[in-house]
Amino acid sequence: MNPTSILVPSLSRRHFLKRGSALVAGSTVLGSLAAERFALGASGNDTLKVALIGCGGRGSGAANQALSTYNIGPVKLVAMADVHEDRLTGALNNLQKNHADRIDVPKERQFIGFDKFKEAISLCDVAILATPPGFRPAHFEEAIRQGKHVFMEKPVASDAAGVRQVLAAAEEAKKKNLKVGVGLQRHHQLSYQETMKRIHGGDIGDIVSARCYWNGNRPWQKKRLDLEKQYGPMTEMQYQLRNWYYFTWLSGDHIAEQHIHNIDVINWAKNAHPVKARAMGGREITNGPDDGEIYDHFACEFEYEDGSVCFSYCRHQPGCWNSVSEYVQGTKGRAEVNGGKIYGDNQWRFKAEGAKDPYQQEHDDLFTAIRKDLPFNEAFYGAESTMTAILGRMAAYSGKELEWNAALNSKIALVPTKLAWDAEAPVKPGADGFYQKAIPGKTAVL
Ligand SMILES: NC(=O)c1ccc[n+]([C@@H]2O[C@H](COP(=O)([O-])OP(=O)(O)OC[C@H]3O[C@@H](n4cnc5c(N)ncnc54)[C@H](O)[C@@H]3O)[C@@H](O)[C@H]2O)c1
Repeated sequence: MNPTSILVPSLSRRHFLKRGSALVAGSTVLGSLAAERFALGASGNDTLKVALIGCGGRGSGAANQALSTYNIGPVKLVAMADVHEDRLTGALNNLQKNHADRIDVPKERQFIGFDKFKEAISLCDVAILATPPGFRPAHFEEAIRQGKHVFMEKPVASDAAGVRQVLAAAEEAKKKNLKVGVGLQRHHQLSYQETMKRIHGGDIGDIVSARCYWNGNRPWQKKRLDLEKQYGPMTEMQYQLRNWYYFTWLSGDHIAEQHIHNIDVINWAKNAHPVKARAMGGREITNGPDDGEIYDHFACEFEYEDGSVCFSYCRHQPGCWNSVSEYVQGTKGRAEVNGGKIYGDNQWRFKAEGAKDPYQQEHDDLFTAIRKDLPFNEAFYGAESTMTAILGRMAAYSGKELEWNAALNSKIALVPTKLAWDAEAPVKPGADGFYQKAIPGKTAVL
């Protein structure tokens, strides 16, 4: 599929109904799907074979959580794929510590290279997709084409073309009755679920506005000089892949890579995505060549169809006020969603008993859905929330007010079609080693 060749209309209401806990929301349609069998023909007691694509920090974590579902049914890691052998080996060694008897990944099932994910996926029942986000659409499309269940990390794309690709594959997954989990783990966190139940039940009245934040510091950074000391001279592509956070085509910028969690919570509360965005952003503090092209702060105003607004802020600036949080204001009260608190007529506070680690819970829920054939497809809201963050980024980069549909149908694809260590990188440093960042009022995004 050429992702830029299709025009996608505003997502329909039926997608919004899938928000919240996919298991809970989906249970109402269970009857109509009950006649359908597993795409894999697996029974509840079969060993589910897992492949890990992208064997870094989160991939290792997700594989650990997938393998920790053994109390629900037998599970085995059978294949791994990465572009970096050292990352794959490191992840494999770490996973062996807790799951030695659930790991069966001999040398011939350790795949290294840009195209090797296809072979790893072919050997599994469940594919874990945890590379940098720019590669996710192609990996997800392939996993669904091959008829595999998927757990994929957020964000699910770095550009609008990728979001369209994910939405198309999500429709395919639905037709094939494949289960898809997305690493927006707040949907599986009891305090969020309980707070959302009350918001959706009307405890704060109609939502008129919301605020959300991911204000903190720069996360990890791989400096070119250090990398070259460790690995020798590098092509531009090799450098950008090791320092992927700082390149928009790979990470989506930090508004998509991190702040998506908070933006997603507001979409969840609204049961909708915004219809337009206005935003500002730039780079003030972190201005080195290894900061690539991404911004260090964004301030966005997302407007929903009913006129309500969400103010969203994220920054990577040390020594400032920090917060990772979400707040919703209604006509009868307000919710501090991350704190599990409702203020106003229906005052309430979440009590922590029984709350499980949401990273484990999301895998328990996915693997239960696979084994019991429950409806479970988080790709639609994962794609909507990814697109919401990308919309905010596009509004900030361009300095324009942007409509959802125009942004979703943007003709600009950031991820190159040719992927190889000696292929041309989509962005390059200038003679001074610095990368061009987006200039509001000048940069085109549509
Ligand atoms: N849900 C959460 O709370 C959470 C937390 C951390 C990270 N994440 C997400 O997980 C993803 C991975 O992040 P990370 O922190 O593990 O990064 P990481 O750099 O530790 O791991 C990425 C891995 O992907 C590999 N890789 C890169 N390009 C590849 C390709 N084309 N094919 C195969 N492998 C490739 C890298 O070599 C590396 O091993 C990101 O999307 C990130 O946003 C989610």
